[in-house]
Amino acid sequence: MDRLDELAHGTAGSRPEASRVVVDISMSLDGYVTAPGADLEHGLGVGGEPLHAWVTDERTPRDAEILRRSFTDTGAVIMGRRTFDIVDGPNGWSDEVGYGHDQDQIAAPPVFVVTHSRPEKVRLGDRFHFVTDGLGSAVDRARAAAGGKDVVIMGGGATAYEFLRAGLVDILRIHLAPIILGGGTPLFPQGMPESLRLEPLGSVSTPAAEHLTYRVIK
Ligand SMILES: NC(=O)c1ccc[n+]([C@@H]2O[C@H](COP(=O)([O-])OP(=O)(O)OC[C@H]3O[C@@H](n4cnc5c(N)ncnc54)[C@H](OP(=O)(O)O)[C@@H]3O)[C@@H](O)[C@H]2O)c1
Repeated sequence: MDRLDELAHGTAGSRPEASRVVVDISMSLDGYVTAPGADLEHGLGVGGEPLHAWVTDERTPRDAEILRRSFTDTGAVIMGRRTFDIVDGPNGWSDEVGYGHDQDQIAAPPVFVVTHSRPEKVRLGDRFHFVTDGLGSAVDRARAAAGGKDVVIMGGGATAYEFLRAGLVDILRIHLAPIILGGGTPLFPQGMPESLRLEPLGSVSTPAAEHLTYRVIK
């Protein structure tokens, strides 16, 4: 299967009325979204850069198209507080690099950060909204902002896992990097309490990633 349309849209050409909730994350073959040692200086952990090679130094035209279409399909983003602290940190996002890496940041969607407490200061300004009353509220607020486009949960591991576990995710999009990290930030830290069934919707293979899209069966 190599169906770019379905990877980007779920079903080719169609647009559902309500925003889909999509987990979209890069992962190693052994299930980690960062290498060990993730901190403000090493957002993907020490040696974790190959996780994002498909958006950076090994990006092929096919990777670029997946990135572009994912960006234009996204109406709002949800992230966890630890991911926010990294993107808002000194080595984080800028006017040029942000959601979708080097896509046009003027068109970047609003970001909803799930957290137990708001930060005192935000370097990156008013594109960020802080949600302290739970996952359902984050989805409601992101959907209200998304205008029918996708609500994308971009990570990190703990947050993506929580949304999956809560049954709030429609589509799981994994960019599987050809690396075994042996540790780091897991996507499935405690295993799911019960199995989660998935329907494969499409896959695209490039040297830097297997781009896999699944519908979460509810
Ligand atoms: N590979 C990729 O594509 C990718 C994508 C995104 C991020 N990342 C990386 O992933 C790492 C972070 O992942 P992580 O798993 O450590 O953390 P995370 O998911 O980014 O953030 C977890 C934090 O979010 C807050 N949170 C989550 N669920 C919540 C809830 N229901 N209610 C309130 N607050 C909630 C809590 O923060 P508080 O309790 O402190 O408020 C929690 O400690 C970073 O290094 C980042 O660079 C990788």
